[in-house]
Amino acid sequence: MILDNLTNATADPILSMSVACKADNNPNKVDLGIGVYRDEQGHTPLMQAIKMAQEALTQEQDTKVYLGLAGNESFNDVMMDLLIGAGASRGRAVAVQTPGASGALRLLADVIKLSSPDAKVWLSDLSYANHAPIMKAAGLQVRYYRYFDPKTKLVDSSGMQQDLQVAKQNDVVLLHGCCHNPTGADLSFTDWQAVTDMAQRQGFLPFIDIAYQGFGQGLDEDIKGFRYLAERVESYIVAASCSKNFGLYRERTGLAIVVGKTQQQSNAIKSRLLEIARTTYTMPPDHGAALVDKILRTPTLEQVWRDEVTYMCARVNTIRQRLVTALQQKSGTHNFDFIGQHRGMFSVLGITPEQAQVLRQEHAIYLLDSGRINVAGIQERQIDYIAEKLLVVGKTS
Ligand SMILES: Cc1ncc(COP(=O)(O)O)c(C=O)c1O
Repeated sequence: MILDNLTNATADPILSMSVACKADNNPNKVDLGIGVYRDEQGHTPLMQAIKMAQEALTQEQDTKVYLGLAGNESFNDVMMDLLIGAGASRGRAVAVQTPGASGALRLLADVIKLSSPDAKVWLSDLSYANHAPIMKAAGLQVRYYRYFDPKTKLVDSSGMQQDLQVAKQNDVVLLHGCCHNPTGADLSFTDWQAVTDMAQRQGFLPFIDIAYQGFGQGLDEDIKGFRYLAERVESYIVAASCSKNFGLYRERTGLAIVVGKTQQQSNAIKSRLLEIARTTYTMPPDHGAALVDKILRTPTLEQVWRDEVTYMCARVNTIRQRLVTALQQKSGTHNFDFIGQHRGMFSVLGITPEQAQVLRQEHAIYLLDSGRINVAGIQERQIDYIAEKLLVVGKTS
């Protein structure tokens, strides 16, 4: 019968590791897995700006009637302002609110498939764990370009450019807007200039995934490279998330942006995105988008939010620096200084899956087999323990 043919799906490694960590009774346990920001108490707080916007909405909102297929259009507009700013490409930009950036990635992948069924999507090696599954689920072919240099633990700029030489009109190149997940190694401004030149010359479509604006060097600084590209290429698409920088993880708040060659082309593509949304979830959930819209359209709230993002960013960068210092002091080397050059929530440490397993099983330090740690989840009191065990595992295997 129809439901008799299925066995268990493979569990998501990040989500199942988080469950294993919760069940661990070791008092020293450290959860460096799932990508969420935590404060010094290990808590992921509701942001003050969100609380204030929520109170205002409770007073003002008098209906929960359906919005349109594109969700909250005021949110879509103000988010495009935040991301693209006043650049010329803003005039050709259209957006659809989606259930998180995950929803945007899938909707955009579907529209690529619809427009060009044999398109290839180029992902950085490494990339966000869900990028390849989403692209493949949409029926797209996936290729990888060199990105993370295992020796320097930074971006392999020349390897990347060499690999992307073959990307042409029927190719999509997915770039992380900032705060690269999982590696923490970000493109420099010069790298952005080089990729922009290549997109102009070779005609591939840049696909920007921005999930951590504000967590690297600040809200404006983090998107300088993206904006450089945005103003110089004919077309680009964006999947953006409000999960981290508005702390709205479970509210599933994000958007898909399309910038076509002309406004007319953008509108046609938007109508296709809406068509796809209609046959999947029809309309995105509103609450998160209504909160973001309220914040970004109320100057006092926007300031509260900007200050909170600045604070979170500074905290993550301080933790990074302290981890580097602890590793320097305990090892007497500069082998881990690269962690200080990484940006955003994550760093890939360049350890083996076996070493990651030892850290989990023997020391209750929960990190992914890829060696990714969530720096934004570390508490100061855990730094010495983490540094010590990283060095133990490095020596013994
Ligand atoms: C690079 C990247 N893109 C997209 C997402 C998905 O974000 P959302 O929670 O908005 O679906 C994440 C989440 O971790 C991410 O790291």
